[in-house]
Order: sequence, then C-alpha cells, then structure tokens
Amino acid sequence: MGAGHTRFGALAEGPRRLVRDAVDKAVASVDRGLERDAIEELYLSTLGFSGWQLGNASAIAAEEAGRPGLPAVRVENACASGGFALRLAVDAVASGRRDLVLVVGLEKMTDVTNARRRYWLGVSGDTEWERLAGLTFAGVYGLMASRYEAEHGPVRDALSAVAVKNHANGALNPNAHFQKPVTREQASSSPPVAAPLRLYDCCPVSDGAAALLVARPEVARRFTDTPVYVVGSGAGSDHLAVQQRRFITRLDASRTAAEEAFRNAPVDRKSLDLLELHDCFTIAELLALEDLGFSPRGGAGKMTLSGATRLGGRLPVNPDGGLKAKGHPIGATGVSQAYEVFLQLRGQAGARQVGGAEHALTHNVGGSGATAAVHLFSVG
Ligand code: COA
Repeated sequence: MGAGHTRFGALAEGPRRLVRDAVDKAVASVDRGLERDAIEELYLSTLGFSGWQLGNASAIAAEEAGRPGLPAVRVENACASGGFALRLAVDAVASGRRDLVLVVGLEKMTDVTNARRRYWLGVSGDTEWERLAGLTFAGVYGLMASRYEAEHGPVRDALSAVAVKNHANGALNPNAHFQKPVTREQASSSPPVAAPLRLYDCCPVSDGAAALLVARPEVARRFTDTPVYVVGSGAGSDHLAVQQRRFITRLDASRTAAEEAFRNAPVDRKSLDLLELHDCFTIAELLALEDLGFSPRGGAGKMTLSGATRLGGRLPVNPDGGLKAKGHPIGATGVSQAYEVFLQLRGQAGARQVGGAEHALTHNVGGSGATAAVHLFSVG
C-alpha cells in the first residue's frame, strides 16, 4: 500500500540517511495518510551495511524509520536479500500475525575500497572453488556466457541489446544510477571485464535504499483505493558452487522459485504485462527469460533482439533500467523491483509507464544463483 525509493548511485548520504529517506517516501506515498504507529514489524534487507558486518543493523533501521522499539530483523541472502525480506513480510501478514509490516532494503557500497569490496561481495559466492581461485561475480557470469555461446551460438549482439535497452529505460528513471542511453556499438566495444563480458554488461556498484509498506488486503484498502496485491510468492536455492550444479547456463533456483510462485497464483505467464528481472550481468537477463519460462532454451537472445522486451514491446523487461542502469545496491535491489511494480501497476511510472499494466513479476537472485525469490503482483 506504499513504497519509497532514494536515488541510486554513488551518493554522499550515509546508510542512516538513506533508510530515513526511503521510509519517509514510502509513508508519504500512502494515499490516505499513515501514522507510523500502525507499523508492527520491520524487515531490513542488507548484505553488509557499508561493507562492514555490523550486527543488529535492523535496530538502526527501526530508529531511522521513526519507530525505535519495533520488532525488527535483518534478512541476508546476498543480492536476493530484498526478495526474501518481501517474502517474510508477505508471510507475516498472510498468516494474520501482523496487519502492517515495513520492508527496507539498503546498501552503501561506494565508501569502501575496491579491494575490500571485491572481498565483501565475493563472500556471497563459493570460497573453496571460486573465490580462492580468483573468480569474481563478473568472472562467474562470464563463464556462464561463454558456455551459453558454446551451447547456443554467438550472443554478443543480444548481450549488447540488453545493455542498450536497460540504459534507454534508465534514462527515463530519475532514480537510476545511469541516466544516459548507450549505443549498441558503445556496449560492444566497451572495455573487457571478464570475457566475454564487457563494462556495459555489468551492473555498477551503487548506494541506495527502497522501502515497502506491506499490509493485509483488508487493512490496505482502508489506506488506498488502489492497493497492489502480492498474488504469488516463491523461492528456491541451489548449490553455492557453480561447478556442483546440474547446469552452468541455467539457474535452477530461479526455476524453482517461479514454479512455486505460479503454483497457486490467479495469473499465468501470458497475463503478465511486465517483468523485473535480475540482470546483474546482461547474460543473467537472458538466462532469467529462459529459467522463468518466457523463452525456450537458447531463444532469449532472439526474443531480445526482436524488441519484445523493450518498452512498447510485447513483454517489457526492466522498465526502470534494471540492475544494469538503475544500479545494484545489493540489499536494496529486490525491494526496488517491487517499488517499480508498485508504480507501474498504479499508473504512476511517468515516462517509462507500461500502458495499462495490471500484472507483473519480480525476480531476485542471490550471487550467482544460490538463492532466488520470485513474486507476482496484480492490481484491481
Ligand atoms: N556500467 C557502465 N558504466 C560503468 C559501470 C557499469 N557497470 N561501472 C562503472 N562505469 C563507468 C563509471 O561511471 C566511470 O565512468 P566515467 O569515467 O565517465 O566517470 C567509468 O566506468 C569507470 O568507473 P569505475 O568505478 O572506475 O569502474 P571500475 O572499473 O572500478 O568498475 C566494474 C567497473 C564493472 C568492475 C564494477 O562496476 C563492478 O564490479 N560491477 C559488478 C558489481 C557486482 O559484482 N555486483 C554483484 C553482482 S552479483
């Protein structure tokens, strides 16, 4: 029934200020106003709170939300922390245990050195087989892209098409880290990062926060005439080390999460109007289209090159710019995806509005696919 978002990017604001801004905006978004006393519990999604493993960060979030004393818990599932925090909030209200719950997603990433950040992000992947061998997340997704090319043929044009699309969408999003369009040529000739991935295939390192107010439907309808309903929730996990998984070019955790989300949902894939997919690297958007059942195996590149996933296409993907252009402040990402859906389904997304959008999906992946959460949303 409410959602708020800070700017994403390299920001001067510290973590406390980011939480406060996102929560203030979420409270201000409630159509008929909200007294904060009505909030009963808080879930804070964050990987490391400024790169440092501070304990009890949820208490700081409750303080900055203007509700010290609120039951509060920190949720950590790497880059999927936000999706899992939303899932816990949904469970809390669906079970009847709570009427109204606050979800806050936060990351402050740019105030630590590159070397420390690599270590900090790396611990969300496998240590024995990957990290100690020097593999970064760009390296892991680079291996996935290489293997994908071996299985399905050249993918460079499709990867660049994902980057071009998401940067074009980011240019329409005033909260995005990058708000400049890029050309296919710029994307294809940007500096190599981890072959075959280049700079424009990678999400950036971003600061930012987002917040959601999640209520039981009867409660939400007291505050707004246009609540956005969570109509499906699913989650999955997989081996942490990529080499122990069944496939390198499929994320089974995403498939499992989607199966659960759709199982009892009143919507199917055909009824969806937009997707928020976890495009931490451009190859990840292609894999997601296939893992979630929107494209046959090996077909996501063709689907992307056809323009189907652009704004105005058959099934717009990442209208907010995705992780690629909007940015990827780890713990904030899954919450930010739901924020975009909240705007889109209420017709409030401005220049990037998907016309007549009524049903949407969010897909949030932890690290290289060890965890994943999928949610389905409807309005009306
Ligand atoms: N996409 C597009 N441009 C980017 C970018 C990205 N991902 N990252 C940085 N840039 C731009 C910067 O804006 C800057 O532009 P400018 O010179 O015009 O100001 C330039 O590239 C250099 O920026 P810098 O911060 O020095 O880049 P870097 O080389 O230190 O980092 C990456 C680039 C790709 C290595 C870094 O963004 C990265 O590690 N991304 C992945 C993060 C990650 O793994 N997250 C978890 C995912 S599972």
